[in-house]
Amino acid sequence: MTRIAIVEGDGIGHEVIPVAQRVLEYLHPEYQYFPVEVGYGKWEQTGCPCADQDISRLKTADAILFGAVTTPPMKDYQSVVLRIRKSLDLYANLRPVRGDGFDIMIVRENTEGLYSGIEEQSEDRATTLRVVSRAGTERIVRTAIQLTQERKSLLTIGHKANVIKSDVFFRDICIARARAAGIMYNEKFIDALSLDILQHPKNYGVVVTTNMFGDILSDVAAYLVGGLGLVPSANIGDKHALFEPVHGSAPDIAGKNVANPIAALRSAAMMLEYLDDRAGAQRVDSAITTLVSRGTCTRDLGGSLGTKEFGDAIVKQLSEFR
Ligand code: NAD
Ligand code: IPM
Ligand code: MN
Repeated sequence: MTRIAIVEGDGIGHEVIPVAQRVLEYLHPEYQYFPVEVGYGKWEQTGCPCADQDISRLKTADAILFGAVTTPPMKDYQSVVLRIRKSLDLYANLRPVRGDGFDIMIVRENTEGLYSGIEEQSEDRATTLRVVSRAGTERIVRTAIQLTQERKSLLTIGHKANVIKSDVFFRDICIARARAAGIMYNEKFIDALSLDILQHPKNYGVVVTTNMFGDILSDVAAYLVGGLGLVPSANIGDKHALFEPVHGSAPDIAGKNVANPIAALRSAAMMLEYLDDRAGAQRVDSAITTLVSRGTCTRDLGGSLGTKEFGDAIVKQLSEFR
């Protein structure tokens, strides 16, 4: 029995995840779905945003569908999503950005870098340690090389090795592995890359980079496809996998039924692919494409549908091309 954990989280997570769950349930009524509540809302109610028991329950799932959590900029509050990624060792964050004539896969290291959580603060100074380990780099570049080979494309290594020594380390390992694998690769400083990917998206295939650079680059690249409402992600480890939109809890639009559920739906499609239902994943993707091409979409894409109404439309569309 395939067991799917459903984590709505906070904000628009409560709106977009039910749409994605509905589609999963439509395609796979035989899966078992179980909710896990974590996030800022839970912290407000209980003083704890994510209990050890929540982590244990997530570990029992074959795959996790995750909305987004609010992380307040408070000194002692630990981001729930970072905790989950680390506890489940979800080291590869795959963020596809696909559009007219380009198909980019951002491969973001997901467990270390500037998000290692090794930090200190005194009255006069705050420091954050940026950890780039050999093992962490080897495993993320292995994933990136495999994807480059599968897609027969180019690997771009995004870094800031002109300034940061931990990125000299990252770059050197990536280049050595790319050479050994015999794949086509190039490298770019992350600042220049962030502009060039917008100007020449067709020049990119797979981009591998460290944690925070990948975080920022994926929001930047979302511009190419119409914004954050559209970009999904997969967080993959050797034992567990979690699928979530790239966007956050969007408090500015939460509760208004205007959030675009496509990023959540595409994350569900990535989950189906991971669970070996490639046909199901393709059905979801083509239903989305058909609706959007007809202008049947939410207002961020120029349409007039609400989140729920888009959910109705996608289920109807799926039932029509059985
Ligand atoms: P955000 O991604 O939530 O929102 C950025 C902008 O994009 C907002 O204007 C929002 O309205 C818009 N947007 C986002 N998703 C959309 C959608 N589906 N449809 C239409 N518009 C959409 O980023 P933020 O505002 O910087 O962060 C808000 C909160 O979310 C913060 O607490 C942050 O820490 C958290 N966050 C969580 C995750 C996660 O859980 N994985 C990811 C990013 C941000
Ligand atoms: C994302 C988010 C998270 C991250 C935050 C909320 C911890 O921005 O998933 O892109 O930085 O990974
Ligand atoms: Mn982000």
